[in-house]
Amino acid sequence: MARKMIIAGNWKMNKTPSETRSFIEELKPLVAGADAEVVCCVPAIDIIPAVEAAKGSNIVIGAENMYFEEKGAFTGEIAPNMLVDAGVTYVILGHSERREYFAETNETVNKKVKKAFEHGLKPIVCCGETLTQREQGITLDWIRQQIKIAFLDVTPEQAKEAVIAYEPIWAIGTGKVATTEQAQEVCGAIRQLIAEIYDEATAEAIRIQYGGSVAPKNAAELFAQPDIDGGLVGGASLKADFGQVVCYK
Ligand code: 13P
Repeated sequence: MARKMIIAGNWKMNKTPSETRSFIEELKPLVAGADAEVVCCVPAIDIIPAVEAAKGSNIVIGAENMYFEEKGAFTGEIAPNMLVDAGVTYVILGHSERREYFAETNETVNKKVKKAFEHGLKPIVCCGETLTQREQGITLDWIRQQIKIAFLDVTPEQAKEAVIAYEPIWAIGTGKVATTEQAQEVCGAIRQLIAEIYDEATAEAIRIQYGGSVAPKNAAELFAQPDIDGGLVGGASLKADFGQVVCYK
C-alpha cells in the first residue's frame, strides 16, 4: 500500500495565539485540495487556538515538544495527556534545536517517543548530522545511532505509526537545501535500518520526511524521491508559501 505523504510545518518559536488564529484561517483554503496529510506543529500556547481554528478542515495540529513524565513537579514542562486533551495528533521529538539548546539526548528522545505512544500521540522523530560530521564521512553512522536509540523498546506496531524527519543541521534555516541525491540517500538508509530493526512491512509503512530549507521551489523534486514521504518545514511554514509546499504537485 502506498504511504500517504505528510507535510508538517514546524513553527518553532513564532506566532502569538491571535496570530495563530488568523494564520490558520488564511491557510485553510490554500491547503484544502492537498493530497498529503497537512500538519502544523505549533508552540504549546498556540495549540488550543490552532485546534479551534482548524476544526472542520484538513489541517491537523501537532506540538513541538513534550516531557516524558506523566505529571508533577517539572516546572515549565508539558505532559502528554495535556497535548491529547488539547486535540494534538503529532509531536515533534528530538529536533536538533532541542538537542543543541535544551540538552536533549538520544536517551531522552527515546523516553519521549515511548511516552508519546503510550498516550496515542504520533511522534515525528528528528535526526540529522552537522556539516562537520558530513565532511568526516560519518553521516550514516550518526543517523543510525540516533534512530536506533530513539526506537529502543518501541514495538513494530508503534513504529509503523511513527514519522522520522531527516534534517541535516547545515540545511536548517540556511537556504542551503540538501541535494535530492543526498536527501534520498539518507532517507533510503533510514528505511533500510528500520527493516533491520523490525521487518520489511514496518519499513514500508513508516513515513520519512526531509527537512531543511524546504520551499515551494524545491518541494516537488524532493518529495518525488522514493524514500521521501513529505517534509518538515520551518521558515516556509510561517507564510502562505506553506500552501504551495503542501500542494507541491
Ligand atoms: P527551515 O525549513 O527553516 O530550514 O527549518 C527546517 C526545520 O528545522 C524544520 O523542523
